Amino acid sequence: MDINELKEEAQQALEDISDPKYLESLRIKYLGRKGEVTQILRSLSKKSLAERKKVGKAANQIKQELNHLFDIKLKELKAATDQQINLDITQPGARVQLGHLHPLTQVENQIRKIFQDLNFSVIEGPEVESSYNNFDALNIPADHPARDMWDTFWLKDFDNLLLRTHTSPMQVRYMRENKPPFQIIVPGRVFRYEATDASHEINFYQFEGLMVGDDVSLANFKYVVGEFFKKFFNKEVKIRFRPSYFPFTEPSVEVDIQIPGKKDWLEVMGAGLVHPNVLKAVGYNPKHYQGFAFGGGVDRLAMLKYGIDDVRLFYNGDVRFIQQF
Ligand code: FA5
Repeated sequence: MDINELKEEAQQALEDISDPKYLESLRIKYLGRKGEVTQILRSLSKKSLAERKKVGKAANQIKQELNHLFDIKLKELKAATDQQINLDITQPGARVQLGHLHPLTQVENQIRKIFQDLNFSVIEGPEVESSYNNFDALNIPADHPARDMWDTFWLKDFDNLLLRTHTSPMQVRYMRENKPPFQIIVPGRVFRYEATDASHEINFYQFEGLMVGDDVSLANFKYVVGEFFKKFFNKEVKIRFRPSYFPFTEPSVEVDIQIPGKKDWLEVMGAGLVHPNVLKAVGYNPKHYQGFAFGGGVDRLAMLKYGIDDVRLFYNGDVRFIQQF
């Protein structure tokens, strides 16, 4: 083959190559010890002097040119593959979007943890309840006007089954199965058939507390609830009890708190000493046992903690809101 044809062939082959692993074999084919250009140079010794001069010069020049072209190609291919595997380790990585727990779940978890540290057991109960557990055993018979305090979703086609209107029926379930002394906390979802507004949802979360023993008093409750709020808000929170009414506690109180730096007192939970009729309904002798019970709103505490003014924001599924927590 003519030396110039050889050069063109090698150039074309170089151009077609896109994988660096074929580059070396191509280099060997033309410029290696037994390569085609090398062979031409070797065969010169058999040629005439004039021929040697002419062909030798051209072949040496081509050898140099090809060497140069191979170097350039090698650099090109290397740069291209570096880019492909993004080898620049100093570049910032692509941010991975992680999900997280809903703010209400986070607050409920904090509540669970604080009470566990106070030696309370965490118990859960069913969202569908009997009207007996939700009302009757809690000293709220069918004709009692206090039933209106808890507007109810009843289950269609099932007599006396409802969506629990509060976590208090778990008091009944737990006491029927366990003997005092004990202290429990019951977080859970509850439902009320009422108009919604900035502080009322038809579906929300409560946490029920119950401590029963030989001589458990409101003073014990005051200590527990004080510890709870101090830990929950991480501040020395002021607490006040106001007389109230619940059919299942006697006396009954509303617990108000005042957060340092804030003027208003805020109503955060209902509470009281467990009513003797409730103790009797679960088979306890009210002369032997007494205790306190309380029920607070998880949503309301979350609103206070994070300064949220509308409970409905927790439920409308807007990720721009949820992502802030
Ligand atoms: C009760 O549900 C009683 N079971 C509480 C109780 C338990 C009293 C044990 C005594 C002993 P009440 O209806 O007030 O009480 O609700 C308690 C808390 O739930 C309220 O303080 C409030 O924080 C929250 N809550 C009530 N209704 C709603 C609502 N519609 N949306 C959001 N939170 C609510």
